[in-house]
Amino acid sequence: MGYDYGRIWVVGAYGRVGSTIRDMLDIRKVELLETDVDDVDITDVEAVTAFAQRNRPNTIINCAGMTDMEACEKDMEQAYRVNALGARNLSAAARKVKALMIQLSTDDVFYDGKRTLRNEFDQPNPVTIYGKSKLAGENFVKELTPKHLIIRSSWVYGRGKNFVNYILEESRKSDIIQIPDQQYASPTSAKELARCVLRLIKSGQEGVFHAVCQGDCSRMELAQEILDMTGREQVKLVPRVTADSDMGVTIPEYTILDTLMLRMCRIEPLQDWRTALQEYIREKNNEK
Ligand SMILES: NC(=O)c1ccc[n+]([C@@H]2O[C@H](COP(=O)([O-])OP(=O)(O)OC[C@H]3O[C@@H](n4cnc5c(N)ncnc54)[C@H](OP(=O)(O)O)[C@@H]3O)[C@@H](O)[C@H]2O)c1
Repeated sequence: MGYDYGRIWVVGAYGRVGSTIRDMLDIRKVELLETDVDDVDITDVEAVTAFAQRNRPNTIINCAGMTDMEACEKDMEQAYRVNALGARNLSAAARKVKALMIQLSTDDVFYDGKRTLRNEFDQPNPVTIYGKSKLAGENFVKELTPKHLIIRSSWVYGRGKNFVNYILEESRKSDIIQIPDQQYASPTSAKELARCVLRLIKSGQEGVFHAVCQGDCSRMELAQEILDMTGREQVKLVPRVTADSDMGVTIPEYTILDTLMLRMCRIEPLQDWRTALQEYIREKNNEK
């Protein structure tokens, strides 16, 4: 088994994950098509179909999405339009041009309050609009494309707004930082996720895969690790209750993904979350 990268269409190419995947692709070996909302709006079925038929990618990686949970709660229709219909439009186009369809998805498709690991065979049960719309997107991909990869990740950090960057910035300005308590998952660098996406494409595997860095932690542990790695141990972290909190929605507390499919298919796992975090902080320091 093995797969020729060929012509890859990265959709949502200017977002956190999309830009990392795009940067990682060796343009000497692949033909890269990159679009974001201003180039091809994935909610516009005609635009999506026309782009696919004109360019005939053999892989479509959908990194586009409405990812702000609060915005999804406020505008449910737009969340479904982007996260569900957008995935449907791309899947239908992938089928027409016989491309492999890759859908990025999330740990937020799970929620049952239980402190158990979720593997790819567990039944999703989202509570947030974000989680529900992402699951609807996954279902369209399964229904409409014979050849697909659905890749779920969690707490992704890299460029732009994310928890790791928030702690890095806040610890420069404040002596005390409030951290939402009772949230557990596996922090995953966009770089490690991108590497795994490329390994999966190359492997020729299909189906649903969880792709998160190894190990897990609470937000508090993650924040403390960032402070320790950057020598800012003097900053005090204070737990903040997150119940139904800021967005009027219950945030899933415990969404730790088991990477059973990666193990069973003998795909190299992602690095341990601390090692990936160290790499990220080192690279950020080198940029200065
Ligand atoms: N970040 C995480 O912690 C995380 C965790 C698990 C899974 N994921 C999944 O990974 C994927 C990528 O996440 P990310 O963090 O890279 O998200 P992101 O930074 O928000 O990037 C999403 C990109 O999609 C674009 N977009 C929005 N609506 C669009 C439309 N109608 N047509 C075309 N493009 C559109 C956005 O443009 P604008 O910025 O202009 O809206 C943005 O450039 C998503 O599917 C997300 O659900 C993310």
